[in-house]
Amino acid sequence: MNELLGLAEVDMSGTGAVQTPEGKAAIKQRIARLLEREQAVLVAHYYVDPDLQDLAEETGGCVADSLEMARFGRAHRARTLVVAGVRFMGETAKILNPEKRVLMPTLQATCSLDLGCPADAFGEFCDQHPDRTVVVYANTSAAVKARADWMVTSSIGLDVVAHLHARGEKILWAPDRHLGRYVQQATGADMLIWPGACVVHDEFKGIELELMKRERPNAKVLVHPEAPASVIALADVVGSTSQLIAAAQSLAADEFIVATDVGILHKMRQLAPSKRFVEAPTAGNSATCKSCAHCPWMAMNGLANLAQVLETGSNEIVVEPAMRERAVVCIERMLDFAARRRVRVRASGDLARDAPLFAGIGPA
Ligand code: 13P
Ligand code: SF4
Repeated sequence: MNELLGLAEVDMSGTGAVQTPEGKAAIKQRIARLLEREQAVLVAHYYVDPDLQDLAEETGGCVADSLEMARFGRAHRARTLVVAGVRFMGETAKILNPEKRVLMPTLQATCSLDLGCPADAFGEFCDQHPDRTVVVYANTSAAVKARADWMVTSSIGLDVVAHLHARGEKILWAPDRHLGRYVQQATGADMLIWPGACVVHDEFKGIELELMKRERPNAKVLVHPEAPASVIALADVVGSTSQLIAAAQSLAADEFIVATDVGILHKMRQLAPSKRFVEAPTAGNSATCKSCAHCPWMAMNGLANLAQVLETGSNEIVVEPAMRERAVVCIERMLDFAARRRVRVRASGDLARDAPLFAGIGPA
């Protein structure tokens, strides 16, 4: 099978990094043929390997944030969705599309937010606060979603909570504490917040970022809301991965400091080739860097394991039907809300047209 896949050129030691340009081209062609054979479409996140991002677009799939990945997978007529990202993204795709086969390059790619919010403990927390509307971030297991009233992603969390707050509802929020605090401050909603964090964004350092800003006074600072408050406080734009890419395209600046996973820089550089993008600091005097701005689980997706699952049909996502029936409610609620509000996450590059993308996002 290795020969068939062009895997002689491939390092199969975990990440599946392809070693030569010829090997890379061969395996990409092979994957494109397999996608066609399997009537499959590749749905990738902005944090995965640039080769996978490009391949998704070249083969009619998409590279997107978690909201758009869910919408794209649901709308697409492919029989198989191949999700390059982390497990909750594959599970969300399966929950929304029980009739489709959902494969992932690896089933080991989890998320610290998901790991830090076990369903049993979360269920007890919910039981203690029956008067609260339960809003969970997409980065959770199907079992946690099954307990929730709403699922949100970082593109839409602020809008949903503002809407619930306006209706007088009190919120129980899980699992990201930084995003929860950001949404709470921006909306003024009454929120009880689960103490989870993303191991990648938690590493960004406000003190070091301040020093970097002094060295680059004209640079705009783009921050994902999973980052700590000290980092968000220095941001020009706070938003989901798609919203940050939109800001990079649309804002009139030559240089940007980016506080999110470095995988995003690939798309930013493609869409705004004349601009400079610099990683926000995770190192320095106050550093305890474990991830250095790259998600270890997103990094498990590679060309080799992608080819392998398409070839063998392994790594299929399974969600037990009773669980699926409960979990789908909170996801559909978010998608209906997004459709009613006509939430758009992609930028055109024209600042005037894209202004609504930035509404409701910005420094805390
Ligand atoms: P987005 O929804 O902004 O793409 O974020 C997903 C994620 O896991 C960020 O760490
Ligand atoms: Fe989870 Fe953080 Fe990785 Fe996103 S970057 S998948 S939140 S661990």
